[in-house]
Amino acid sequence: MWNSNPLRALRAPSELETLIRERTAELQKLSQRLLTVQDDERRKLARDLHDSTGQTLAALKMSVALLQVDCKAEPARLAMLASVARLADQAIAEIRTMSYLLHPPLLDEVGFACAAEWYIEGFAKRSGITVTADIANSRTRLPGRVEIALFRVLQESLTNVHRHAAASDASVHFQHKAEVVTLEIKDFGKGISQERLRLLQGASAETGVGLAGMRERVRELNGVLEVESDILGTRVRATVPLNMNAVTSRFGDRDRPAASATAQ
Ligand SMILES: Nc1ncnc2c1ncn2[C@@H]1O[C@H](COP(=O)(O)OP(=O)(O)O)[C@@H](O)[C@H]1O
Ligand SMILES: [Mg+2]
Repeated sequence: MWNSNPLRALRAPSELETLIRERTAELQKLSQRLLTVQDDERRKLARDLHDSTGQTLAALKMSVALLQVDCKAEPARLAMLASVARLADQAIAEIRTMSYLLHPPLLDEVGFACAAEWYIEGFAKRSGITVTADIANSRTRLPGRVEIALFRVLQESLTNVHRHAAASDASVHFQHKAEVVTLEIKDFGKGISQERLRLLQGASAETGVGLAGMRERVRELNGVLEVESDILGTRVRATVPLNMNAVTSRFGDRDRPAASATAQ
């Protein structure tokens, strides 16, 4: 009875420590794998929405346009068709935004800096929060997994500002040096209490999925995620070294569309 727990059979504390280390590493690998699967799913969903539902709606819009020509002499029907066309436009715009938020094509085509600027602009419009952006205008591409991790940190941090900070202003700062990139998202909202921050920084049940996911993504790239907060606001900073991630780019450069000259 007394030895039914397998841990009791292990006597040496060093054995327990090794076991805990191994289990922690396994869990870390699992959560990193889950994040990769989530990214792939989002990318696929974004493409399906755009290519399938988006195309169906575009075809609907064309049919309505043809009907509008047929009904030129019937004002009542024309008005009805105009309202159908407006609804189709609205659905097309919604599908497009949804698809781009799931996985912005700019991220693959021209890289993090452009995708970040696009996202920040849209976020400011949708949320009404004024965001000052200072994004290093670097055309140098970063490894794919670094770009996607940075983008998700930006997305999650700004979503948190919108959801939790009650801030009217935020700022984003992105710096790209030869060996390291730094992304900082700062808000001037109500902040996180020190007690809650302590819980969020530890591996407790209190850890939010968003912050934990960001930390895991950055850790996988041998980087650091720091969260600082007080009554003046919150600052999230991700620092990622580039030399350690260059070779292990998730989708090797052959899978990535070449940076296009037409991209803005
Ligand atoms: N910018 C912020 N301002 C104020 N509180 C924040 C901010 N970011 C995060 N928090 C707090 O940290 C918690 C954990 O965030 P997160 O891990 O993203 O989980 P979630 O957003 O799902 O609650 C939030 O519930 C909130 O209480
Ligand atoms: Mg969140």
